[in-house]
Amino acid sequence: MKFFLDTANVEQIRKINELGLLDGVTTNPSLIAKTGRPFPEVVREICKLVEGPVSLEVIGTETKKMVEEANKLVEYGKNVVVKIPITEEGLKAVKILANQGIRTNVTLCFSPLQALLAAKAGASYISPFVGRLDDCAHDGMELIQQIKQIYDNYAYATEIIVASIRHPLHIVQSAMIGAHIVTVPYEVFSKIASHPLTDKGIEIFLKDWAKVPT
Ligand code: E4P
Repeated sequence: MKFFLDTANVEQIRKINELGLLDGVTTNPSLIAKTGRPFPEVVREICKLVEGPVSLEVIGTETKKMVEEANKLVEYGKNVVVKIPITEEGLKAVKILANQGIRTNVTLCFSPLQALLAAKAGASYISPFVGRLDDCAHDGMELIQQIKQIYDNYAYATEIIVASIRHPLHIVQSAMIGAHIVTVPYEVFSKIASHPLTDKGIEIFLKDWAKVPT
């Protein structure tokens, strides 16, 4: 399973990148706004830092505008993937961009049918938002299961990015389902390698080792 970081914060990307396990980054307009920095400056830094795909979202809501923006966004780096919200206008843009050889990440997906349409349009990635569904008392992970089944049934090449992750269990469940990618917020990413029993175990081993005659 591939691990993406869901942030536009360069420091966070740098820290997680040091682990050597980072496969890509996803951003969105809210995450860019959170940095308080100019868009071109942040994006140039991220694209240089990260080897894998970097998702950058369009702001336009009409096909023509989305396609124009996408063609500008890909100038930032070879690893840029253009994030397109799933609307009818967005689907038309995805199809045009796929024909141009521009990779897309179809975002704000909340239903299996939206995911099916995105795959048919030629999306490289689909981003179902599990946490936001959970927030509305819907089972976000059930959506991942449905999309996985549909994509497997028809051998679609579109990769599932489980997005809007709120806690480590979302990652475990994504892996059990066989989702291709999880995009994880920094706060969750920095929790997942540790376990209190690992820390306790190391402490005991070191204490016992000190008793071994040298
Ligand atoms: C996905 O690509 C989005 O950036 C993100 O996962 C949204 O998560 P949120 O619901 O925590 O804002």
